[in-house]
Amino acid sequence: MPPEVVYPPRCMSHTAPATNCYAKENAQLRAAFHWPSPTRTSAWDITRMNADKTFTILDKEQLIPGQTSKLVVSAPQIALKAKPGNFVILRIAEKGERIPLTIADTDPEAGTITMVYLVMGKSTAMLDELDKGDEILDLCGPLGKPTHISTEAGTVVCVGGGTGVAAMHHIAKGHHRAGNKVVAVIGARSKDLLLFERELGQFCDKVLIATNDGSAGVQGFVTGVLQDYLENESDIGEVVAVGPVPMMAAVAETTRPFEVKTTVSLNSIMLDGIGMCGACRVTVAGDTRFACVDGPEFDGHEVDFTELSNRLAAFKTMEQAAHDHYCKCKCDD
Ligand SMILES: Cc1cc2nc3c(=O)[nH]c(=O)nc-3n(C[C@H](O)[C@H](O)[C@H](O)COP(=O)(O)OP(=O)(O)OC[C@H]3O[C@@H](n4cnc5c(N)ncnc54)[C@H](O)[C@@H]3O)c2cc1C
Ligand code: FES
Repeated sequence: MPPEVVYPPRCMSHTAPATNCYAKENAQLRAAFHWPSPTRTSAWDITRMNADKTFTILDKEQLIPGQTSKLVVSAPQIALKAKPGNFVILRIAEKGERIPLTIADTDPEAGTITMVYLVMGKSTAMLDELDKGDEILDLCGPLGKPTHISTEAGTVVCVGGGTGVAAMHHIAKGHHRAGNKVVAVIGARSKDLLLFERELGQFCDKVLIATNDGSAGVQGFVTGVLQDYLENESDIGEVVAVGPVPMMAAVAETTRPFEVKTTVSLNSIMLDGIGMCGACRVTVAGDTRFACVDGPEFDGHEVDFTELSNRLAAFKTMEQAAHDHYCKCKCDD
């Protein structure tokens, strides 16, 4: 059995302990992904060669001040090809880290894509410094397998938590366009932190809400609302869940006794996003799968959520150090 290799999420040359230097490994990874190869064209090269050359931010809206923002970015080629479930990976500086973000919406006619991000650490804090009119250095996509949308799914219950509601919105829209009945279940700590309630209300058959403090909808978690719905309604063809890992794990456990197909969208750590580095490995039904190319959507009843949580937390100390360093000097080293 080969030893488990956990790649760092990004270049950690400034924060890694000397005995555990990821810098060389990361330089090799970066070289592999950026080096123009005569025999192999990476998705990054493709983006630069034949797709959009500039990615201008056309609109920015703070959905939750200081925490969550929505960007509308000019990316005509990606807007044309993107489907629900796809994501992009962007960089905002030459030495910058790659940030995977789900495509929350597209407007092929206007040539734009919409992304919603939560400020988590250094890179999303840097992204948040950009404003309307600024350029994103590069943006690769659409990546990942699109959502499987059947025209005969019956009722599809789409559950979203936190920023995941934005990603879920695009999937829900896809099911609605395919003629399925769509019920959205969204949750947040309180009413003012709810996202996309209005947008979902425009096409969903129902929007059910759960807030921890009871300031909107039912007091409690989305899983409570989902449990009620499963107990009282028949003809539920599928449940889709997008949000924090513990929420998706809880949704999968809620639906398991009802034997309802449950799809989750995994946000494992990603580097290249094109299946070469192995950073995004997840275990599904006992097999190793790469979330970037085999997913990001998988059968929620088969995902090893404990392993996923552990892998997501593997670089916490370094991420914190990088964020603290950035907050102090605002440099992108
Ligand atoms: C397919 C996919 C779609 C995503 N869509 C969205 C989205 O629509 N909106 C949104 O707010 N976030 C999304 N994320 C998560 C987002 O990429 C991370 O929050 C972001 O990269 C954090 O970077 P940071 O430097 O700000 O934080 P850091 O301090 O570097 O990390 C904070 C936490 O973010 C996660 N993270 C860090 N690096 C990565 C990485 N390279 N890939 C994935 N997760 C990472 C880890 O859990 C980490 O503990 C998505 C992730 C994936 C894989
Ligand atoms: S991110 Fe590298 S293989 Fe998936």
